[in-house]
Amino acid sequence: MQIIIEEKSANLNEVDSIIVGVYSDKLDSPFVKNFDKLSNGQLKGAIGNKEFDGKESTAVMFRIDGNKMIVVGLGDSKVSKGEVIKNAFGNAFSSLKEYSCKTIGVPVFESVGGLDFLSRCIVEGVVIGDYSFNKYKTDNTDPKKQVDKVIVYCQEHNNSKMLIENGVKLGQILADSTNLTRTIANEPANVATPVFVANKAKELANQLKIKYEVFGRKELEKMDANALLAVSAGSVNEPQLIHLEYDGRKNGKGKTIAVVGKGITFDSGGISIKPALKMEEMKFDKSGACAVLGIMNACVKLSVNARIIGIGALSENLPSGSAYKPSDIIKTMSGKTVEVQNTDAEGRMVLSDALTYANKFKPDYIIDLATLTGACVVALGDLTSGLFCNDEEFEKKMIIAGQTSGEKLWSLPVSAEYDEKIKSDIADIKNVGESYNAGASAGASFLKVFAAPTKWAHLDIAGTAWTVRPKGYLGLGSTGMGVRVVTQFIMNETSS
Ligand code: BES
Ligand code: ZN
Ligand code: ZN
Repeated sequence: MQIIIEEKSANLNEVDSIIVGVYSDKLDSPFVKNFDKLSNGQLKGAIGNKEFDGKESTAVMFRIDGNKMIVVGLGDSKVSKGEVIKNAFGNAFSSLKEYSCKTIGVPVFESVGGLDFLSRCIVEGVVIGDYSFNKYKTDNTDPKKQVDKVIVYCQEHNNSKMLIENGVKLGQILADSTNLTRTIANEPANVATPVFVANKAKELANQLKIKYEVFGRKELEKMDANALLAVSAGSVNEPQLIHLEYDGRKNGKGKTIAVVGKGITFDSGGISIKPALKMEEMKFDKSGACAVLGIMNACVKLSVNARIIGIGALSENLPSGSAYKPSDIIKTMSGKTVEVQNTDAEGRMVLSDALTYANKFKPDYIIDLATLTGACVVALGDLTSGLFCNDEEFEKKMIIAGQTSGEKLWSLPVSAEYDEKIKSDIADIKNVGESYNAGASAGASFLKVFAAPTKWAHLDIAGTAWTVRPKGYLGLGSTGMGVRVVTQFIMNETSS
């Protein structure tokens, strides 16, 4: 799908449909009047009849000489947020696609968050909303509907064409990177083995012309990555530690940021096996590592002024005669020993070595993304990701990046008191806290041991990395959670 910008007003001769965004407190604006005219008075009629009032999550469709106009409500302009725009345009886009529309016009309207932010949100909504994962459907009798072109009309904003161009470009990069992550994360566990994901990383690195390194079982043994090896011990598929690196620093000046992802391609729980119900969802336990690939893509496409190191710790977690067991004591790459009390707390195991590895590059920041705990899902559901940070200033910056990007984060504690929970009687630490007691913070406390002394943020995306109910512009399956918020933080931190 192509997205182009045209410096004229919406023109139903060159598109077969248009989407018009309207705020509930601006029903009398010149913008609305203009589109009322284009709809031959239908819009005013709908407003007069109270069929449409501009409230959030409302929409109305008109036919104009065989073409279609969807008017979407964006709510009160004083409080309306980016996600409202993304949902409204994403949903309208999907409806028009269902109606077999091929070309869609989106007139840029009076903006509350800046024309660049507005255009970015429209494009994110449309491109993320356009995504579907159906490569395994073999029935092709119903040909896939596809929109060929979206035209962003910006006549009323001629002087601001630059802003709109920037917003469209950023929205496209963020959405494409999110979709890239979704496409890998949605792959089933029999296809997406650790080596499969590593190969995807290699392909991406070649495309982006950035450094790629991979460590398999043999190399991991030499590196003493015993925690990652322990988790993979029950599987015939070998683990992979992947390293991608982009250096966009100008004159060698700029920050180094390591982004580390949990990449369990299937989490059965191992010997501490999970119940069967919903176990199939554990193919998404690789979502953190998949997000790292999307983040690398975005950072390179945006040429951020920083060195970005992307690390993924990939393994299966399966039970077998060679699997690691509760009671095992593992000496991690850092030298610290871990008592395994539950093999289902494998994410923190693989991340312990990945974080130690990340610290070898002396990063200014480490951000890890992990579908780490069911406890975080209980606390925050599928709407917000948990944020755990060992530095207050960094934490605030991450929260702001969450608000701007729409991938919301909520701070949960990882303060020193919580370290008690993972004390072991016979090793340095144990891999679980107390049951039904601050499970998400206990997991974070464990990771903190290996992230120190670097400024570190841990995103627990267990509830947000995929969805089993359509969530506005995000369809079923992987959401690509983490790509946009982490890229936003990196952009904020490196643009000055
Ligand atoms: N991958 C799971 C966490 C998870 C659960 C993600 C549900 C998404 C939905 C993780 O490896 C896990 O099993 N964690 C355990 C930790 C416990 C044994 C300390 C959990 O949360 O129950
Ligand atoms: Zn687990
Ligand atoms: Zn897991």
